[in-house]
Amino acid sequence: MSDVEIKRGLEGVVFTESELSYINGQEGKLYYLGIPIEELAEKSTYEEVAFLLLYRRLPTKKELEEFDQKLKENRAVRVEKIASFANYPKDAHPMAALRTAISELGLFDPKEEDTSYENLLETGISLIAKFPTVVAALKRLREGRLPLEPRNDLSHAGNFYYMLNGKEPSKEQEKLLDVALILHADHGMNASTFTALVIHSTASDLYSSIVGAIGALKGPRHGGANEQVLKMIQGIGDASQVPEWFKEKLEKKERIMGMGHRVYKAYDPRARILKRYAEEVAKAHGRTREYEILVAIEKEAEKYLAPKGIYPNVDFYSGVVYSDLGIPVEFFTPVFAVARIAGWVGHILEYTEKDNRLIRPRAKYSGELDKPYIPIEQRG
Ligand SMILES: CC(C)(COP(=O)(O)OP(=O)(O)OC[C@H]1O[C@@H](n2cnc3c(N)ncnc32)[C@H](O)[C@@H]1OP(=O)(O)O)[C@@H](O)C(=O)NCCC(=O)NCCS
Repeated sequence: MSDVEIKRGLEGVVFTESELSYINGQEGKLYYLGIPIEELAEKSTYEEVAFLLLYRRLPTKKELEEFDQKLKENRAVRVEKIASFANYPKDAHPMAALRTAISELGLFDPKEEDTSYENLLETGISLIAKFPTVVAALKRLREGRLPLEPRNDLSHAGNFYYMLNGKEPSKEQEKLLDVALILHADHGMNASTFTALVIHSTASDLYSSIVGAIGALKGPRHGGANEQVLKMIQGIGDASQVPEWFKEKLEKKERIMGMGHRVYKAYDPRARILKRYAEEVAKAHGRTREYEILVAIEKEAEKYLAPKGIYPNVDFYSGVVYSDLGIPVEFFTPVFAVARIAGWVGHILEYTEKDNRLIRPRAKYSGELDKPYIPIEQRG
């Protein structure tokens, strides 16, 4: 193995085929099943995008109605489970709570060990439906309030907003949350999707794959970045202080959260869409400070980071949007998970159908061989 080339961080390694999403990192474009993300954000709904990712085609009107009905039927989480969530420590990270909650749902699912395609699909739909209920319940329990039961007269995004905030969203708020969910639903072979596939490829159950994916998404280099962006700008008084703050960051070689991407070396198209919404809500609600600070950071980044191919990613402006929707900072990443569950399940189904081979890479051995075993008394 002495002459093998190591692909650190698996960068550029292609291990399977997928038609779910395509990222053109040089031009800053994203497609789900070949459809530009801008079209989906404007014209589709999260329910339709979830169908698209699971079945790899757009639904007919009837299919979408049936799928929507199925999601609604699966929204409720048993009251004993909710009672169990109430025992989680209030200061634990919500992603740790979500990881445990989904693991618990698996523990009590009598069909957990059924890894047939049909059951993967059924359980996957059930999880897409239940993620908003679980995340909203965790938020309300943390606030010392009783979780709300899902409402079947509301859309996926509308009901999620209602369960989070205890009131129905306006049409604009519902659309905004729907767009945020659509934009985060899938993104090629990212770290959490890969984690899900690694676990799935061992023929383990779906819950284990999803719990692993939640763990990967939690990290600040992946989904956890959205939370870090707002934390990062908390100490900046206003936009005028940004140039100095930015210079200091660069000098200390600290990373600007919400910037840079392994695949995009251009502006992330999702960030462009969210920036537009972030500007709208900031102006509409007179909460422009955070938005203006982010725009000022982006301006500095254009000078110093863009030449290295580092631009805003999806996490840069999402926090401003989430804040406007009444979502607390520590719940930004769980909301990301509520969207990404469709992509995780879609990739698992696709891998099951097309490939289904154990994922097992190798490391270049860099140790010695045939060393003598030294008895413990003789070790220095
Ligand atoms: C996402 C991320 C991990 C991808 O990084 P990667 O492909 O592994 O790239 P590297 O970490 O090798 O970085 C390459 C260079 O760009 C710099 N860089 C990358 N992201 C940066 C950022 N956000 N701020 C400042 N510099 C950054 C690195 O310091 C490195 O510089 P060097 O070559 O002078 O050492 C990285 O951009 C990052 O940490 N971003 C911040 C976290 C974030 O927003 N994550 C969400 C992704 S959707």
